[in-house]
Amino acid sequence: MERLLVTNIGVLATPEGTSARGGGDQGSVRTLRDAWVLMEDGLIAALGTGQTPPPPGARVLDAGGRLVTPGLVDAHTHLIFGGWRQDELALKLRGVPYLDILAQGGGILSTVRATRSASQEELEAKARLALDEMLSLGTTTCEAKSGYGLETETELRQLRAIRALDRTHPVDLAATFLGAHALPEAYKGDRAAYVRLLCQEMIPAAAAEGLADFCDVFCETGVFTAEESRTILEAGMQYGLRPKIHADEIDAVGGSRLAGEMGAVSAEHLIVCPPEGIAALAAGGTVACLLPATSFYLGADYAPARAMVDAGVPVALATDFNPGSCPCLNMQLVMGLGCLKYRLTPEEVLTAATLNGAAAMGLADRTGSVEPGKWGDLVVWEAGDLNYVTYRLGSNLAHTVIKKGVPYGREKQKCLN
Ligand code: NIG
Ligand code: FE
Repeated sequence: MERLLVTNIGVLATPEGTSARGGGDQGSVRTLRDAWVLMEDGLIAALGTGQTPPPPGARVLDAGGRLVTPGLVDAHTHLIFGGWRQDELALKLRGVPYLDILAQGGGILSTVRATRSASQEELEAKARLALDEMLSLGTTTCEAKSGYGLETETELRQLRAIRALDRTHPVDLAATFLGAHALPEAYKGDRAAYVRLLCQEMIPAAAAEGLADFCDVFCETGVFTAEESRTILEAGMQYGLRPKIHADEIDAVGGSRLAGEMGAVSAEHLIVCPPEGIAALAAGGTVACLLPATSFYLGADYAPARAMVDAGVPVALATDFNPGSCPCLNMQLVMGLGCLKYRLTPEEVLTAATLNGAAAMGLADRTGSVEPGKWGDLVVWEAGDLNYVTYRLGSNLAHTVIKKGVPYGREKQKCLN
């Protein structure tokens, strides 16, 4: 049996439970001082306070009085893509709007061209580098979407890359089919034909190979309407893919209402979510997966996170890592923005970046909190308390990242607060 005992934890801070936390519970975090955590065969076996003798054969990791939290969960990424889009930054600076770049065949559609011409091996190698960086920043579980193929073969290739990385990289991945990410140029004159292709060919093919856990749609002006989104998500449900939805990112065209009505696992972005959308999410038990780094990068408004928490909607925070609207994979930066821009407390942010993210991935019974039976996913922080983590914007404060009981360290400065 593989055993790892983490001792001398100054503060262990963790949400608790196996489901998303909203309302007043979003900020209720258990705090243990002078704590230890024992992991056995990748799972958390026990935890406590004070001194504990190492069990036979256990490796011991002395946390040196540092803060320990659950591993971070990034519940929304577009991890698999060819190329980058650095040239769009200059367009943005000249004031060209995101949807205009897309309408001119750039944006998502330019990444589609680069992704179609990449092999599965190339896509995997590129994403592996990103996952390495994410792990070094504290992310231990991550969702990844397809959506840069917009044709069956490339969509399946993206999903196969996600499954291959899940098998071979320490970070655990969930796969989301996002064939409805944009209307491909070839279907500009016949939207209904692309919706049929999604529902009758791509979704069944992805499901037949067991390649996806979730189905997602970009419900937005000029992309997919709420009615088209419903059709696509219902087709996904018929094949066992649980619904997620990019909703109310730029325009409120009914995405959050649809998410609530369908009982979607999560609704994502929600920058311009109206009050009736918040009410629908609360009624549907849908997690609001918010992406503040995208707002920052697009120079857009920030989602009404405070109103969502107050309405009892569980809020998760994620990066939205993608080559266009958010080329940032740093959950620590997202957590800082969660405090500064959403006005969430550090405790609410911790729950958002761990347990609620896990719930948005259907994994709240496996990860997202430090509790016996869950995966041994922890971050030992170069910090003495949680406030310091959300305050030191822009630094990597992860000292050691533990994934399923295996520690991944890196050279660090010594700067305990
Ligand atoms: O979540 N909103 C749609 N999709 C991505 C952007 C993808 C891209 O620009 O390549 C997002 O922001
Ligand atoms: Fe996205």
